[in-house]
Order: sequence, then structure tokens, then C-alpha cells
Amino acid sequence: MRKICVIGTGYVGLVTGTGFADLGNDVVGVDINPERIEQLNRGIMPIYEPGLEEMVERNMKSGRLRFTTSYEEGLKDAEFVFICVGTPEGVDGEADLKYVRAAAETIAKLMTRKLIIINKSTVPVGTGDWVSEIVKRAQPEPKPFAVVSCPEFLREGSAVTDFMHPDRAVFGSTDREAAQEVSELYETLNAPIVITDIRTAEMIKYASNAFLATRISFINEISIMCEKMGADVMEVARGMGLDKRIGQHFLQAGVGYGGSCFPKDVKALAYMAATHGTHPELLNAVMQINDFQRKHILLKLHDVLDGNIQDKVIGILGLAFKENTDDIRESPALSIARQLVNRGAQVRAFDPVAMEHSAKSLPELAMCGNAYEVAEGADALVIATPWNEFKQLDMARVRASMRLPNLVDGRNMYDPETMWELGFNYRGVGRGYQGRGVHFKSENGNGNGSH
Ligand code: NAD
Ligand code: UGA
Repeated sequence: MRKICVIGTGYVGLVTGTGFADLGNDVVGVDINPERIEQLNRGIMPIYEPGLEEMVERNMKSGRLRFTTSYEEGLKDAEFVFICVGTPEGVDGEADLKYVRAAAETIAKLMTRKLIIINKSTVPVGTGDWVSEIVKRAQPEPKPFAVVSCPEFLREGSAVTDFMHPDRAVFGSTDREAAQEVSELYETLNAPIVITDIRTAEMIKYASNAFLATRISFINEISIMCEKMGADVMEVARGMGLDKRIGQHFLQAGVGYGGSCFPKDVKALAYMAATHGTHPELLNAVMQINDFQRKHILLKLHDVLDGNIQDKVIGILGLAFKENTDDIRESPALSIARQLVNRGAQVRAFDPVAMEHSAKSLPELAMCGNAYEVAEGADALVIATPWNEFKQLDMARVRASMRLPNLVDGRNMYDPETMWELGFNYRGVGRGYQGRGVHFKSENGNGNGSH
């Protein structure tokens, strides 16, 4: 059993701390947000993450997991301290490191023994060296420490499973022994281990996120071509993905990537590249394609509503940036809703868990109790987040209750042919070829089809 302090109890800190406690370690989670700590101590989860509540409860009961606002308490016996604070987008896309700086300074001031400081937040290449300097300067008297970069690869919505079954764990440090010691915390997870230098570890994180974002923009670009040329991007992705060198994952065309990570991390990497005199042309294209993908949904709505969005009743299913989370940071769904509100539409929405956050962010949005209420009397319905429960809807009932049968499926959740049979004017993403050997009229009127 090792003694671990985790700074920050958001998606990464709370899951990591709870995961380490579940592996048998003694963990204290520290956060500067007193409400969050108070909630956690009452067993209330500040975030929605499948499987987390039960794991937190179990480990708090066993006495291996505690939460506090006090760094002194968190650092008291700790051998390892994980920095898991936010690194949001700053000016011009640069990562804002103010929370990392504050955490590093406080750790330096209050550490009482030898400590391994592990950076789990996603930070620009070179930040580990910078954190070492901060700690050295802020220590009232010199105490031994090492800094290790251990980037996190978990996804929201499956964070607990991802923590327990990582594809790999990466550790970077100038102090190889310290990196080795941190890697031993992950031993029981049986994941491939990469031990490297600190800058390489930091770059592995950005390169991984940027690569995944690139795959999404790639398939989104192909999806636009499919619409124009009468092909089906779902089948294209399947056909491509069966090649083992390509693989099936992250080839789902849709409304573009969102969330608290891809948008900011691609921007931050492009910023780093530009400030180091290189030309991140591919990353710039990835971002441009992603921006266009949201506009593309609006163009589809414009098209099905004959160019008139003002005063139309438009329903949106899903508000979170992806399924199985309540996170609305950089949510494409919310961005589409906002643009519709700005164009004078009456917009209503339903999301299984993200409505509370969304109502604060966009008060003009009328929230409904379920998906059927959203559809009632609507002129168009947009599928913006692919929650599983939307797959189970009685679509005949949905169709019957709408004023106009326009269905813009931003996540390709439904079978086009079935939707046409039900009487919907169905528009998926990249689905130029829509079944039964018939090419439907492509959007913007230049198709070769019969409908
Ligand atoms: P978050 O916003 O959910 O949580 C950050 C927490 O840190 C908040 O509770 C905040 O109150 C706390 N905090 C801020 N400053 C603090 C300080 N000085 N001392 C103590 N607590 C402090 O953020 P997150 O989504 O968990 O992301 C954290 C980092 O991990 C980011 O760098 C992010 O890019 C990276 N990351 C996130 C994910 C993800 O899925 N969310 C996955 C991998 C990596
Ligand atoms: C992503 C990465 O997948 C994690 O490995 C990483 O740790 C994390 O960012 C991070 O650094 O924070 P996350 O943002 O939680 O995780 O969710 P993803 O499942 O990657 O989805 C990101 C966005 O891309 C979502 O908006 C999702 O809907 C979209 N997406 C994903 C697509 O449009 N198509 C796809 O094929 C896959």
C-alpha cells in the first residue's frame, strides 16, 4: 500500500484517485473547490461517470479514500502527489497553466518529506522542467523531489473502465528511478509500460489526441464527399476499418469532435508548433474541418426548412458533447442549439443527464422531460449526441407527432431506409447512398437520384 495525494478532483483526479484506492493504496483527494469536497464527503458525485459513485463509496467506507481542501492534510504522509488540475484554453489557443503553477507552488511550500510529483494534467512539452524550477524556487528549504510526467488517456463516459484497463501507461522523467517507481503503481493493471524522457511523455499525450482528432476530421471530410458523390460513409468507414492497419475506431462521421480535450489540445499543439517555428498545416486543417462540420448540420436544417429557420420549432436530442457524460464543454450539440436560437428558432431539447448544465449555459433553450416531448409539433429534429436510449425510440410515434417530418441525424444513429419508410425526410451525415439501390437526391440539388 502506497500513500498517494491527488490534486484536483475533476474527471481525471477523481477517477485516478478512486482507482488507486481500489487497487489498495491510501489516497487523499485535494481540491480548492470547497463545495466539491463537501459533496464528495457526503457521497454526492460532482460529475456523472458510469460506475464511479459505487467505487467512491466502497473505497471511502474502507478508509482508503478521503477528500479535503487542505494541502497539508493531503501531503502529510504522501510519497506520490498527482497533479490533475485543469489546463484550459488560454489566449491564442495556448494552454493556460495557472492551475498547474498554483498547485506546484503550494506543494513546494507544504511538502514535508521526499516526494515524487507526477503531472497527469495535459501540459505543453517542457512543462515538467518548468514545474521542477517552480518547486525548487518555492520550497522554503530544499527537500528532495522528482517530477514525472504520466499523461492520462481515459475518456469521459468510460473513465472507470479506461483507468482499470489502459491500452498503455506512459512515464517520463529525467529521474529514471522515479519514473520506474511511479510505473509500479500501475503494475497490477498489466498494461504495456513506456518509460521515457519527460518531454517525450508530454508529446505522446498531445500527439495521441491530435491523431484521434485527425481521424475524425478525415472521416468527416470523406463524409462530405460521400454526400456529393452518392456513397455511404458508414459503409466506407467499415470497409476501411477492416484493414488492420487502419482499424475501426474513431471513424464515426458526425457533428465534429467536442469536449474539454480535443478542441483545446489540438489548438495547444498547433500553438506550440507555431511558436517553435514549424508549420502545423495538418492540425490547422483538422480544426477547420471540425468547425465546418457543425455548420454543415445548420446547412442541412436550412435546406430541409427551405431556407427559413426563424420561428421554426426545432428539437435537439442530446446536449452533452458525447454520450454517457454530463460534460457540455465545447459540446457541438450546444453550439448548434445556440446558433439556432440566434437565428430566431424556438429550440427545445432533451438529454438524459446534461440538461442542468445546459440550461445554465443557454437559458433560451426549452428543456423537455423526454425525447417524445421534444418531437411534439416540431418542424425538424436533430440528433446531436448518440445516447443509446435514442436508438430505442418508437420512431413511428416520433414521426406522427411532428409538424414536419424533417430528421437531421448528426450521429448516423438510424438506418436511412427505415426512416424514409416511416415517412421522415431523413438527412444523415455522409449518407449519399441511402439503400434499396436508389441514390436519393443529394442535398443542394445536384444529386443523381430519384427522390
Ligand atoms: P476538471 O475541470 O474536471 O477538474 C479539475 C479540478 O481541479 C477541479 O475540481 C478544480 O477545482 C481543481 N483545481 C484547480 N486548481 C486547483 C488547485 N490549485 N489545487 C487543487 N485543485 C485545483 O478537469 P479534468 O477534465 O479532470 O482535466 C484535468 C486535466 O486532465 C486537464 O489537463 C485535461 O486536459 C486532462 N485530461 C482530461 C481528460 C478528461 O477526459 N476530462 C482525460 C485525459 C486528460
Ligand atoms: C478523448 C480521448 O479519447 C482520450 O483518450 C483522452 O484521454 C481525452 O480525450 C482527453 O485527453 O481528455 P473524450 O474527449 O472524453 O476523450 O471522448 P472521445 O470519446 O475521445 O470523444 C471526443 C469527441 O469526438 C466527442 O465529441 C465524440 O463524439 C467525437 N467522436 C469520437 C467522433 O465524432 N467520432 C468518432 O469516431 C469518435
